[in-house]
Amino acid sequence: MKNILFIASESVPFMKTGGLADVVGSLPKLFDKKYFDVRVIMPRYMCMRQEHKDMMEYLTHFYLDFNYQSRYVGVLQCKYQGVQFYFIDNESYFGGGAPYGNIREDIEKFIFFDKAALSALPLIGFKPDIVHCHDWQTGLVPVYLKDTFRAGEFYRDIKSIITIHNLKFQGTWDVKTIQTIAGLPDYYFTPDRLEAYKDANLLKGGIVFADAITTVSDTYAEEIKTGFYGEGLDGLLRARAHDLRGIVNGIDYDEYDPSKDKFLPHKYNARTFRKEKIKNKRALQEEMGLDVDDSKFMIGIVSRLTDQKGFDLIAYIMDELCQEDVQIVVLGTGEERYENMFRHFDWKYNNKVAANIYYSEALSHKIYGACDAFLMPSLFEPCGLSQLMSLRYGTVPIVRETGGLKDTVQPYNEYEGTGTGFSFTNYNAHEMLATIRYAKRIFNERKREWNKIIDRGMAVDFSWKTSAAKYTEMYDWLCP
Ligand code: ADP
Ligand code: GLC
Repeated sequence: MKNILFIASESVPFMKTGGLADVVGSLPKLFDKKYFDVRVIMPRYMCMRQEHKDMMEYLTHFYLDFNYQSRYVGVLQCKYQGVQFYFIDNESYFGGGAPYGNIREDIEKFIFFDKAALSALPLIGFKPDIVHCHDWQTGLVPVYLKDTFRAGEFYRDIKSIITIHNLKFQGTWDVKTIQTIAGLPDYYFTPDRLEAYKDANLLKGGIVFADAITTVSDTYAEEIKTGFYGEGLDGLLRARAHDLRGIVNGIDYDEYDPSKDKFLPHKYNARTFRKEKIKNKRALQEEMGLDVDDSKFMIGIVSRLTDQKGFDLIAYIMDELCQEDVQIVVLGTGEERYENMFRHFDWKYNNKVAANIYYSEALSHKIYGACDAFLMPSLFEPCGLSQLMSLRYGTVPIVRETGGLKDTVQPYNEYEGTGTGFSFTNYNAHEMLATIRYAKRIFNERKREWNKIIDRGMAVDFSWKTSAAKYTEMYDWLCP
């Protein structure tokens, strides 16, 4: 039996700002319970929904010496869908209105979380063989395991893995501040350890000190070793290439299942989508105040509104695209310029564009379940889950060939009758527009072909099965 601890800043259902939460909340369920005990530890944010806070029960508390003060650390627990979750509680660190905010404060809060989570383990009575860290927020865990905590018998043999979900965010601040907060000796703050371009970098610490590194698709694992995608850490990732591998994400096939999705007015499956899915389209057109018309090519977007996702391309061709017979339904929040861009086009093309600038699980499911196509022209995309959800719901993805998008969407080939979506190569707005037009032409003029693209997309398996087996293999390799 191997004990694995996921340590992360978010997880469904308790807190979610993006795909990281989907991964942390759905992957642990998939391991064979005969061989693995996989648990999750995350912060208890005050801004969590009350129903989730009510699910937690107090386990223990202690005081941690941190940044020259003695700090309260509460530990709560709950079992959710068979997985044991622990929550680190401290109101002054996790009391804000959102899990992330000001980066300086976030850095201190997550260093606290890393130290508190490791310190809590003996009290919880769970000794992991492997701690599996996720993103910069947990970057100091591998460092602490090699340093401060190594002295303790309990921690000595614990191995660590860090999974990079997004290399863009690294948790950097000046060396002095981070060194003081972390309480680590000078030794760690050199360019071959935590220092990067004169600052201290938490993700870099994780990458340098973890026993293994993964990222969430094969293509992204290659891309981040290059200057364009490497975010300044490509040299380090090349140096650690031997310990770095890509394992593509899956999605939770129970949560995302069009045949029993509670948010969909009309359920369907791979056999019935031809008749049933269109009813969801009509319902969404009505709900969004768009023309109720089967023949309109309805494109969905569900996304954090950041430049990662290719919104500059969309902004550039929106006027042109809206001259056509299309409908665009957007759900997302993020950078103000993109929020306003979509609000503007909603105002300008009111019967064609529906901008929903908020977060809604219900509407996201309705979009996956109703639209004809899903647009995701990312500048970079470590994996991307939305295109997997689209495939599962028979909504044809239109993507740029980068990262996980390239690995999971097979471009349509009309001569061979293959492919599950549409894709383009360059980060170029008119290349994207041409691809959207091509997709629309197949949709309008060759409906049977279009439906076969859906058939193939719905037949591909992006449940966690295959990827969980790869993580299993890696855990076995690290701890034979
Ligand atoms: P990222 O993690 O980079 O944001 P992913 O495609 O991996 O991108 O995951 C995004 C997840 O967040 C998906 O589950 C998507 O449905 C969800 N999501 C993004 N924005 C919203 C929103 N405004 N409302 C509901 N769900 C959203
Ligand atoms: C990140 C990436 C996204 C990935 C998700 C889960 O947020 O931007 O591509 O799917 O993490 O791994």
